[in-house]
Order: sequence, then structure tokens, then C-alpha cells
Amino acid sequence: MPDNKKHGSSNRTITFFVCFLAALAGLLFGLDIGVIAGALPFIAHEFQISAHQQEWVVSTMMFGAAVGAVGSGWLSFRLGRKYSLMTGSVLFVVGSLASAFAPNVEVLFISRVLLGLAVGIASYTAPLYLSEIAPERIRGSMISMYQLMITIGILGAYLSDTAFSYTGAWRWMLGIITLPAILLLIGVFFLPDSPRWFAARRRFHDAERVLLRLRDSSAEAKRELEEIRESLKVKQTGWALFRENHNFRRAVFLGVLLQVMQQFTGMNVIMYYAPKIFELAGYSNTTEQMWGTVIVGLTNVLATFIAIGLVDRWGRKPTLILGFIVMASGMGILGTMMHTGIASPAAQYFAVAMLLMFIIGFAMSAGPLIWVLCSEIQPLKGRDFGITCSTATNWIANMIVGATFLTMLNTLGNAWTFWVYAGLNLIFIILTLALVPETKHVSLERIERNLMKGRPLREIGANL
Ligand code: BGC
Repeated sequence: MPDNKKHGSSNRTITFFVCFLAALAGLLFGLDIGVIAGALPFIAHEFQISAHQQEWVVSTMMFGAAVGAVGSGWLSFRLGRKYSLMTGSVLFVVGSLASAFAPNVEVLFISRVLLGLAVGIASYTAPLYLSEIAPERIRGSMISMYQLMITIGILGAYLSDTAFSYTGAWRWMLGIITLPAILLLIGVFFLPDSPRWFAARRRFHDAERVLLRLRDSSAEAKRELEEIRESLKVKQTGWALFRENHNFRRAVFLGVLLQVMQQFTGMNVIMYYAPKIFELAGYSNTTEQMWGTVIVGLTNVLATFIAIGLVDRWGRKPTLILGFIVMASGMGILGTMMHTGIASPAAQYFAVAMLLMFIIGFAMSAGPLIWVLCSEIQPLKGRDFGITCSTATNWIANMIVGATFLTMLNTLGNAWTFWVYAGLNLIFIILTLALVPETKHVSLERIERNLMKGRPLREIGANL
């Protein structure tokens, strides 16, 4: 069918464009996580706020994100993925402007909550949209691409923070994010809604129309519509299933645990407080701290490629274990150095090397892999509910980490703060060995069957 072929290449372009725009949501997620690190010292100075209030400048966003993640299951069903993403984009624009113009710290808190809602909606809806719209063969790499966009967003924020730091212009640091947010709003406006959502609302004509635009041939589009119709026969019964079914509760528990593990590695302590950590490592001037932070962001982007290469070859479990070992070592050695004192330039370099080692450990493992695993382990019937629980946990745990770091430094001292995180990473090695399944090259149906048969969690990826 020559006509179909021509159709094919233009459809691929549309698919790419669609995925690219949805991934822009990941970029904004990253920008908003990253921006606060560089802005915080200047905000603290201008508003003369305590360590505790600084923690809340960081964490109010995570609070909003947890609420946004819980609400967006409902939102993305009622409004559709497209209009949910648009709601998220509008909140991004409003939150960025409000935080840039905040006259006092209270308004800043409120605008950070708004931004959080936006990030929560984006972090739930964008991967969902990507997985529903991307052709089957590239679905897996889409999730890693999303994580990559998050890390690029964080790096972008660090770079812009650094550029503005020379004049201390924190309002510009926060305000500049309005531009990509507007870009996302315009982009999403032109996106089609997800064919799966149309079908779930029994709008099969619309579903078919979108699939015809996105797939290589009309035969492929028809086949996919049939598959969607089939899978919709499985009704989502999240809460009821959770109450009745012990095996489903185990999957939800695993998703929640995985996200707690990801956050309590301590990664976001570095993401939010990097300049502060450089200060603890003996770099007293702002320029050094800011450029150090940029190097952290760059390392995070580059090491994510290691995960993309390893995840389908080595598998999830060994990669995660290696990551936790690297992270425990990095945090442990940093703590010890803080204990003995970082005096010479050589010791300072070494401390930075340990910090970067930790980042590599996270980016090559827990960063992307936890998201991958969380999307693989839930049975179809309870998928929306299970993923809502794990995504909300990501943000709640994230908030706890962000809201306690400075207090930990003040009460436990620098060394013990890092040792606590090193200890947690050691515990995660044991938990991974005991509870995390290997899901490499295993179909989602197989995982579901094993789970529902009551096999131990660590064996639900077994092919036998
Ligand atoms: C985590 C974020 C973290 C980011 C760092 C993500 O997977 O969920 O909390 O800031 O990775 O790259």
C-alpha cells in the first residue's frame, strides 16, 4: 500500500512531536525541582527567614505536588489527558509569575503550592499520556526519556540560576520558568487527546481518528483500537480491589515502598541544597557553589544514560543494588569527611568527587528504575489506583526529606546527617534483595499472574 507508506512517515513525525511535547512536561518538572537550590540563599537573605522557613519554601511545592498527584487521577479521567495537562500548564504559568513577584514569604509559600499542584499533575499525567500514545515498541524507552527530561530540566534551572546569581536576581530565576510553561501550554493546545481516554469515554470515533493520525497504517490503527476495546473490558476497581484483595495490597505496598526508597536515598537533599552542601565542603564563595551545582546537574543528566543502557541488559535488580552501594559509599565517605574536617584543597576535591559519585549512583539506578518498576508491577484492574498511591508517596517522602534537612544539620550535626542517609541506603540494599522483583523481558500479564497467584513479591517477575 504505497499510500499507506507515505502516510507512515508523516505519522511518525506526528508521534514524535506528540511525545516531545508531553516530555516537555518532564522538563518543567525538573526546572521546578532544580530552581530552588540556587534561589534559596538569596530568598533567605532578602526575607530574613529562619532555617525552618527555608525548608518550607522548598517543601510547600512537594506538598502541592502530592495533592496534585492524588487529584489528577480524577482530573485526567474527567477532563482527559490533554485538558489535564493544560490545567497543569496554566498552573505552571500562574505559579511561576506569582513566586517571581511574591512580596513576602507567605505569598511565596502559596505560589510554591500552586507550582506543586502543576508538577503533581504533570508527574502523573505526562507519563500516562506518553504510555497511551507512544507506539508499543518504544513504550519502554519513553519512561526513561521522561526521566532524562527531568534531569535536563534540573540542569537548565541550575544554569539559569548561575547566570542570575551574579546579580542575586532570584525573582528572575523563578520568573524565567514562565517561558517554557507558556510553550508547554501552547504545545499541549495542539495535542490530540489520548485514544485510550476517548475509548474509555466510549467515543470510539474520536479514538479511531486520533489513531489514524498517529499510526503508520490504518490496519495498525484498527488493530490497536481493537486491543484498547479488549483491555477496557477490565474495569478499574482500585479501592474495592484494595479492600478485598490481599495480593493487590502487596503490589500497592511495593509501589509505595519503592518510592520511599527512591526519596530516602537523599538525592533531593542534594538537588535542593547543593550550594549549601558545597559550603559545608569548604567552598565559601557563591560563584564556586553555583558552578559546583551546575556540575552536579550535568552529572545527573549524563549518568541517566547509563541506566538507559543497563535497564534492559543487566535488569532492574542488579542495577538498583549497585546504585544503592554506590550511594551508601558516597554519603558515608562524605559524612566521615565532615566529621574529620575538610581543610585542604585536595580534601575539598575529594568531597566533591564523593558527591558526584552519589549522583551517578542515583541517576544510573533509582532515578529512572523506580518509575519503571512502579509502572510495571500493578495489575491492570488496579493500575490507576496503584500508580496514584506510589506517585503521591514520591511527593510526600520528597517533602519530608526537603523539610527536615536543615533541621537535621542543626540537631544531628553535618556528619551524622550524611551517615543517616548512608545507613538508609544500606538498608535499601537488603530490602531490594528481599522484596524487589526482576521484571526484565517479562510481560506485564505474566507479572500480574504471578502476583495474583500469591508468589512472593521478589518472584513476581519469574518466567516459570
Ligand atoms: C525523582 C526526583 C528527583 C529526580 C532527580 C526523579 O526520579 O523522582 O525526586 O529530584 O529524579 O533527577
